[in-house]
Amino acid sequence: MADSKVNVLLVGSGGREHALAWKLLQSPLINRLYVAPGNAGTEDYNISISATDIKSLTNFAKEKGCFTIVGPEIPLELGLVDALESELLITFSPSKEEARLETSKSYAKQFMKSNHIPTASFDIFNDYGSALDYCRDKEGNVVIKADGLASGKGVFVCTNLKEATSALKTIFIERVFGDSGKIVVIEEKLSGYEVSLMAICDGKNASPFGTAMDHKRLLDQDKGPNTGGMGAISPALGFDEKQLENAMEKIIRPVVRKTGFKGFLYAGLMITEDGPKVLEFNARLGDPETQALLPRLRSDFLQSLLDITEQGLDSAEKELDWDSSYSCCVVMCSRGYPSNAEVGFPIHGLEDAQKLDGIFVFHAGTKMRDKNLITSGGRVLSVTAKGDTLSDASGTAYNAVKLISWEGENHRSDIGRTAPF
Ligand code: AMP
Ligand code: GLY
Repeated sequence: MADSKVNVLLVGSGGREHALAWKLLQSPLINRLYVAPGNAGTEDYNISISATDIKSLTNFAKEKGCFTIVGPEIPLELGLVDALESELLITFSPSKEEARLETSKSYAKQFMKSNHIPTASFDIFNDYGSALDYCRDKEGNVVIKADGLASGKGVFVCTNLKEATSALKTIFIERVFGDSGKIVVIEEKLSGYEVSLMAICDGKNASPFGTAMDHKRLLDQDKGPNTGGMGAISPALGFDEKQLENAMEKIIRPVVRKTGFKGFLYAGLMITEDGPKVLEFNARLGDPETQALLPRLRSDFLQSLLDITEQGLDSAEKELDWDSSYSCCVVMCSRGYPSNAEVGFPIHGLEDAQKLDGIFVFHAGTKMRDKNLITSGGRVLSVTAKGDTLSDASGTAYNAVKLISWEGENHRSDIGRTAPF
């Protein structure tokens, strides 16, 4: 069991990273925490290195002898873990190759097909004309996905040919997602309800690391465009221990055995009448799922990560201890998100909100300007509350949300309030 103090470098600047920093700081094993580049919520720990500056991050980790944890996907795609490991530095995140499960949807789909992992049927296209012909055949009743990373915005669930044509134009002709849209995956549309299953993996085996339900659409009742996530509840509803173990055996563990994946593996599942099917893999924890999940973790998070890295999963999985509460996280965002967020507005009421019992306010798009807290991104704050019931958790979260404001603030009002299925 790890017992000496460590310096930790946490890479990222979202709500997920503030939640990770908050949890890591509770560990007696932490010596220094550095967050690159962080946000106003992690101000005391921030270093001014961008999450995409692989060389500077590696040099910094080397100089301070850091254990590195990577929050978002882009540094994974840019090979941060490979660079750190080539310097013999320890990390708990996947390599560039392992992260392809997230960074290329066409790779992930082909991987699932060859390894009999349940997922929607699909075809892959690299030109507008043949993709459009295919959509015509399906009368536009398809899901169209840009192959590469698009911050959760490159997926179009279409109901008719007009919508499908517009999605293909956005990706292939307007090239809104740049090279991420060079290839397109077109999938069969699944129905059911969605569960985010997170697993902790040591390269050989995997254990569950909690479940959640994300709310990806911008507007109440799952209307409007897809976003990075407008709120989350944890644990997932309608997903019992038996279903969890089944998904671990049929989906997560085969992936880990085949790819040697280490770090957090996230499977976005659709629970269909034929069982769970994978909508996507992420090579990291979810945002905002992490903000709902981590307040429910009682045990020492850093201790588990170090033990897994040093000794494998066997000893560490026994240490993970979750409370039996429900949690609800409401994302407060800027006017214009997810397309063009308007930023730079002072945030009011945060101190009052934080005084409420059982409230955790995690920052994302925030920064300090002349000692004032201002908005600086699309998703600004993740307001999480815990409760004995989901309805308690949701009620408390919304009591806090009511106290916080800025010009153009926007949030969903139904997180944890209506059953997602
Ligand atoms: P993804 O980023 O691939 O998880 O897709 C984003 C969202 O689009 C998912 O959370 C689902 O709500 C929806 N979606 C993706 N794929 C499908 C599918 N094959 N059938 C129905 N909905 C889907
Ligand atoms: N909330 C979805 C994600 O993190 O990709």
